Amino acid sequence: MGSLDGKIAIVTGTSRGVGVGIAHELLRAGATVIGCSRTPLPAIPGVGEHPGWSERSKQSVCDQGDHRAIDAFVQQVADTYGRIDILVNNAGGTVPAPHAEDIPELVQKIQGAPRSDDDYERTVMFHAFAIQMNLISPLWFAVRVFRQMRHQDGTGCIINISSGASHPAGSPTLVSYGAAKAGLNQMTRSLAEEWGPHARVNALALGPHLTDNLRSFVLPADDPDGAKYFAKIPLRRGGELDEVGRLCVFLAGGGADYVNGTTIEVDGGMMPGVLYDAGLKTITDLL
Ligand SMILES: NC(=O)c1ccc[n+]([C@@H]2O[C@H](COP(=O)([O-])OP(=O)(O)OC[C@H]3O[C@@H](n4cnc5c(N)ncnc54)[C@H](OP(=O)(O)O)[C@@H]3O)[C@@H](O)[C@H]2O)c1
Repeated sequence: MGSLDGKIAIVTGTSRGVGVGIAHELLRAGATVIGCSRTPLPAIPGVGEHPGWSERSKQSVCDQGDHRAIDAFVQQVADTYGRIDILVNNAGGTVPAPHAEDIPELVQKIQGAPRSDDDYERTVMFHAFAIQMNLISPLWFAVRVFRQMRHQDGTGCIINISSGASHPAGSPTLVSYGAAKAGLNQMTRSLAEEWGPHARVNALALGPHLTDNLRSFVLPADDPDGAKYFAKIPLRRGGELDEVGRLCVFLAGGGADYVNGTTIEVDGGMMPGVLYDAGLKTITDLL
């Protein structure tokens, strides 16, 4: 018997990374999980290794940059399962850049914003894309899911995945991403105030977490476990993906029913700014 037995959850960004860790822990706690990404996949990665998880999960295609795609996806989930109890707005991210006023082609390409040969246009499109993916699209998803939740019994649970880059101390190298995530934290509070008692809305501000991307592209080859990279974090390690998932289960599974409108820092006690130089090194080595 799990704390999420019978609950229907949407998790965005479940083709890799943090979203997979979240989906797995929601499944372990008994939820039915519908994930999405732009990449078509037959299933959420790894679900086949656990009895019963394939039957209680599905991976769909939905580009959160397209509000019509969000509408169609959420409607399909509501039509199929009858309700939506949980939304985890996880899809997002960006790439650090040495100078906010001049984004190199390689940085734009890795991040995924529309390309341009014009320096200025490329730079502004990069920042617009970061804000779209980390603030506007999560708002679109939350609005669409709440339009379902408001007609249901009980209190829905919306969790926005934010970042330590949202800290008021600022986030050089991650200027538009940090601003978008700070906006996400503020939006979390505002929506919690508007949408109670039909939904609770909270955010998790993550420090570095051990995704495949972080292991391959951020941790140096001579420091594969990050012993040096994480030295400035009090717990001396990066976060594990199941730890984010278990926090989502805590927020959604009855352990935190009076927690609303808050942003929880999930970063091993990291002080703001301690990883900017290390995080930028990988990209500047490539440039
Ligand atoms: N990993 C960390 O250390 C860390 C630290 C702080 C905050 N975070 C936050 O945690 C969240 C997940 O990050 P991550 O590191 O797991 O990133 P990731 O490894 O790049 O995975 C991102 C996921 O989102 C999906 N996605 C990207 N764009 C999308 C779109 N337009 N529509 C739908 N899905 C989309 C990706 O699939 P497709 O490419 O197939 O669409 C993928 O499944 C993000 O919000 C990020 O800001 C992560």
